[in-house]
Amino acid sequence: MSAKIISGTEIAKQIREELQREAADLKSKHNLVPGLVTILVGEDPASVSYVTAKQKTSKDLGFYSIQDTQPPDITEDKLITLIEQYNRDPKIHGILVQLPLPKHINETRVLYAMDPKKDVDAFHPFNVGKLMIGEADFYPCTPHGIQQLLVRSGVKIEGAEVVVVGRSNIVGKPIAMMLVQKQSGANATVTICHTKTRDMAAHTRTADILIVAAGKPKAVTADMVKEGAVVIDVGVNRIGMTAEGKAKLCGDVDFEGVKEKASAITPVPGGVGPMTITMLMMNTIKAAKVSAGLK
Ligand code: GUN
Repeated sequence: MSAKIISGTEIAKQIREELQREAADLKSKHNLVPGLVTILVGEDPASVSYVTAKQKTSKDLGFYSIQDTQPPDITEDKLITLIEQYNRDPKIHGILVQLPLPKHINETRVLYAMDPKKDVDAFHPFNVGKLMIGEADFYPCTPHGIQQLLVRSGVKIEGAEVVVVGRSNIVGKPIAMMLVQKQSGANATVTICHTKTRDMAAHTRTADILIVAAGKPKAVTADMVKEGAVVIDVGVNRIGMTAEGKAKLCGDVDFEGVKEKASAITPVPGGVGPMTITMLMMNTIKAAKVSAGLK
């Protein structure tokens, strides 16, 4: 059996069409244009490419969007002052600081500086806490994209054994927290595996839904996957250049081997990646609506 390929590109396109209609409605009925600023510190090529894609999508959807690129040696205080300016800017509804930040900057302090109402990444501890108690205003973009991929592909989450590989604050911990909630599109039994897990394969083999955000190419191979499992590969590993000079990507899952065992699997690229950006746009529209008293 060869797995069904879950196309993030296709599902993201559908959601973007919905968002485009919503943005057009907000403009015509309420004269409201969602505003997003993406702040990039330095020139890390992966971060540059993510931020460029976020900017392009927000412009395509008709948002007011600003790309604010700062030098790699910007001080922590200056960066925080910049965020505070955007906190006060009424045209800006969403602020995104691309991570990781250079080593001399304390990421937590930067995240605390953001107005939680404009925190479209949902990384501020206030929003992390609201997610934990099932009261989220925003969901973090990659986990939300994963949940949407599952729901829109008709995967039954309720009662499923979900195993998450990876415990990052950006993916592993929040997706586990979202899927365990007593809510629709959730209600799963969730296990989180990480680098200190004693027998990773013993856990992953129990998964009906296996979510891999390990940050390591081929961290999950076919022998670690149950027959018929749904496999979501969150990995983005750069493994050289294509002939056209673009970064060549692979996921954290051995796609060729695992697709023969899984019932459904996301590819890399074209799986979770396009969904992350789309969910950022959804959060920006939501933030704009809340600021205008529409939600
Ligand atoms: N770095 C890797 N993923 C993300 C993300 O979703 N948001 C931000 N701000 N930085 C990231």
